[in-house]
Amino acid sequence: MSSKKVTNICCLGAGYVGGPTMAVIAQKCPHIKVNVIDLNKERIALWNESDLGKLPIYEPGLDDVVSEARGRNLFFSTDIERHILEADMIFISVNTPTKTYGVGRGMASDLKYVELCARQIASIATSDKIIVEKSTLPVRTAEAIKTILDATGKEGVRFQVLSNPEFLAEGTAIEDLHFPDRVLIGGEEDQDGQNAIQALVEIYANWVSRERIVTTRVWSSELSKLTANAFLAQRVSSINAISALCEKTGADVKEVAYAIGQDSRIGSKFLKASVGFGGSCFQKDILNLVYLCRHFNLPEVADYWQQVVKINDYQKERFAKNIISTLFNTISDKKIAFLGWAFKKDTNDTRESAAIYVADELLQDGGIIHVYDPKVSADQIHSDLEYLQRNRIEKSNDKLAFTIEDIKKRVFVHDSPYNALTNAHAIAILTEWDEFKTYDWINIYNKMIKPAFVFDGRDMVSKKEMEKIGFKVYSIGK
Ligand code: NAD
Ligand code: UDX
Repeated sequence: MSSKKVTNICCLGAGYVGGPTMAVIAQKCPHIKVNVIDLNKERIALWNESDLGKLPIYEPGLDDVVSEARGRNLFFSTDIERHILEADMIFISVNTPTKTYGVGRGMASDLKYVELCARQIASIATSDKIIVEKSTLPVRTAEAIKTILDATGKEGVRFQVLSNPEFLAEGTAIEDLHFPDRVLIGGEEDQDGQNAIQALVEIYANWVSRERIVTTRVWSSELSKLTANAFLAQRVSSINAISALCEKTGADVKEVAYAIGQDSRIGSKFLKASVGFGGSCFQKDILNLVYLCRHFNLPEVADYWQQVVKINDYQKERFAKNIISTLFNTISDKKIAFLGWAFKKDTNDTRESAAIYVADELLQDGGIIHVYDPKVSADQIHSDLEYLQRNRIEKSNDKLAFTIEDIKKRVFVHDSPYNALTNAHAIAILTEWDEFKTYDWINIYNKMIKPAFVFDGRDMVSKKEMEKIGFKVYSIGK
């Protein structure tokens, strides 16, 4: 395969990664036509909305990037066939959730969407293509993709498969894409592989300095993505484990995190104790890593990483149980107000959010939950709770404890925080939205049932100041 200049890119998957990533490539490379394709027609329609407030995902700065490039060299479409045919390079950016069935259920990544992409590409392509894995995938998936492409592709059409994992974090996706710490590209060691790597390097080099573009073998690249997420999550679980010890000993986890973070060997990032990490990546990628280790008969390594997820489950459960025990051991029919539902601030994504687990635990004890989140809809919140239950029930062969109708009678979602908080027995802060810091807490206190409890899962309020107002405050790690 010769080193051809790329002028037409197609991306399969217009989600949290495919959408922003392709929008930035189009913004920075006006000479390249970028087509983002999805099977989901509604999602594509929202990407094409003239009202940029209706884009399917919320990310600060995304609307500006989309408005600059859309219609110029950035297009969103469902026409898979046409855009695969035209493309020199095809990114696969589809979802790779944890498998919920069969072999590897609850642990391995479900690669059915990736496999479908490979089969679609093979059946449509009539010219050579560079395929780029943008989805997070287990080690050696590139090999599987290549096997499918070579076995089912048209005669004489050649494929190169690169691994180019995405490291953006939600809420800061545009900033992360504009100024990445590094871009990682893995490819085959032969000349064709190196030519393909070079073609992708040239795209990123339009705005990323070449020292920050790291090239490796394909399997190292695939494994680096899982490892990076495992290390980041491990830091959060480590500080969360210490937060439990702080609560028993009178140490303050914020002070401990600051003190250890000053050591340049440790560093200060990802040491913020919380109600537990969420998001679509950390848990899924660690479980996948654990599965791989077990598959390769490395039980000690698997157990080591599994513990990161266990501590995270422990932290979420500890937070919920503390609410119940503090409210005199029952929350039956008590109003608990949730500030925040998203898994972190500045995103409307709720996948694996700690709020879902905390709410589920409180519902089982008879609590009534009133939620305010600036970006998450009521439908999303109700379906998150139903989905969690279904998952749990599939594992235990139990009956659904709450139908979606039951959930709607016990979980209320508000457009205004003050409606959610009025007459509440307790407030649980689950997401670190900046606006929570600006609230009129004296007014809120006056509207609550006494004693008025605040359970701060995100270190958002000053315990001292809130206690002065009259609140009873629980803060993680204090
Ligand atoms: P997502 O669910 O938001 O988007 C995936 C999209 O792919 C969906 O809209 C789905 O309809 C579409 N799709 C599925 N099969 C398709 C097909 N055959 N053709 C066209 N479209 C198809 O997922 P996401 O959060 O964007 O994650 C995508 C991948 O990126 C995952 O592997 C994830 O682990 C990885 N990743 C995610 C993040 C993140 O912050 N969300 C960060 C880094 C890496
Ligand atoms: C993560 C990785 O950071 C990113 O590189 C990868 O591409 C995708 O997965 P994301 O899940 O979007 O990104 O957000 P991140 O900022 O990593 O936060 C994940 C979770 O950890 C959130 O729930 C966050 O609140 C929590 N967290 C993070 C903490 O509780 N404490 C911290 O110090 C940092």
